Amino acid sequence: MREVKVSIFGFGTVGRALVEIISERPRVAGVEIRVESITDRSGTVWGDFDPLEAKEVKENIGRISALGDYDVYSFKPQELVEEIKPDILVDVSSWDGAFSMYEVALREGVSVVTSNKPPIAEHYDKLKELAEESKAGIYFESTVMAGTPIIGLLRENLLGENIEEILAVLNASTTFILTRMESGKSFDEAFKEAKSLGILEEDPSKDIDGIDAFYKAKILHWVAYGEPPEKTERVGIREVKDAKNVRLVARVSKGEINVKPRKLKENSPLLVSGVYNAAIIRMNNLGELVLKGKGGGGRVTASGVFTDIVKAALKFPSPR
Ligand code: NDP
Ligand code: HSE
Repeated sequence: MREVKVSIFGFGTVGRALVEIISERPRVAGVEIRVESITDRSGTVWGDFDPLEAKEVKENIGRISALGDYDVYSFKPQELVEEIKPDILVDVSSWDGAFSMYEVALREGVSVVTSNKPPIAEHYDKLKELAEESKAGIYFESTVMAGTPIIGLLRENLLGENIEEILAVLNASTTFILTRMESGKSFDEAFKEAKSLGILEEDPSKDIDGIDAFYKAKILHWVAYGEPPEKTERVGIREVKDAKNVRLVARVSKGEINVKPRKLKENSPLLVSGVYNAAIIRMNNLGELVLKGKGGGGRVTASGVFTDIVKAALKFPSPR
């Protein structure tokens, strides 16, 4: 069995769920996944430590540097890659600037798996180029719809289709708030409740103002068309007064993305609730494909990250 070393960058909801999943199933598809290091804002634990103990310490004390008996390093993100040299860098952080770390990783031949949206939305062309040059891979299933596999569909399974349009509800926090408003709560009350769900972004205005859904729509545009959109529009949910059957809907077509609240028909597949996301993909040969699944939460997101780690370990090609 081949051992694959992973460095986990970020130890919040998703990072900790990932450690749980790896501990439950470290050997899969002929590879053995070993957590070589874990990083949060307090530092990096590296070497022969128990990832579940690290999780417990993080949950109880709030910082990984409190893990006793182990060396804690204060690497800059780029140094982390160069010093540790993992096989796979797993970014489950909320650091918008992580692109610079991916650049170093890919140049070093280290594959990158990420659930962090801005680096992919903003720099996918450069990352893909670096991955091709270094023969490392860049995997980002959980950036859109969490573990529900829309990226794999577009990037691999539907490569032969002409994607005419994607309509999708991609942000679970706004769905939750809108459905609470439908049942009579004010925006402020619904927003407070959403905080207990564990799916709001670290900066929740990214959810409310449609920035999170916008990043996701941009990532879908990259994988559907291999280029960034020329025309964009983004409207959040702050101005919604009558929330009945309203969801924050992203529309993606060649050259164009928009994200805005839309009133949906009673029977629309996009009229989801809870943490569900949904997407309607319209294509030239296949017609309409509807994908619905959970779009957030620790294990749901870590599931997509885990599968990407396995793909990276097996060196799955990353076609588009
Ligand atoms: P959290 O806010 O729970 O955790 C973020 C983690 O990133 C924290 O551990 C934080 O450290 C760490 N971090 C942030 N900046 C840095 C930095 N500069 N250096 C080191 N560590 C840093 O987020 P989630 O776990 O919920 O989400 C992780 C990522 O996955 C985010 O990008 C999010 O958008 C994305 N995602 C999340 C989903 C979800 O349902 N939660 C679904 C799909 C994607 P510290 O703990 O020390 O503050
Ligand atoms: N904040 C995001 C949401 C998490 O509410 O959908 C999943 O990407």
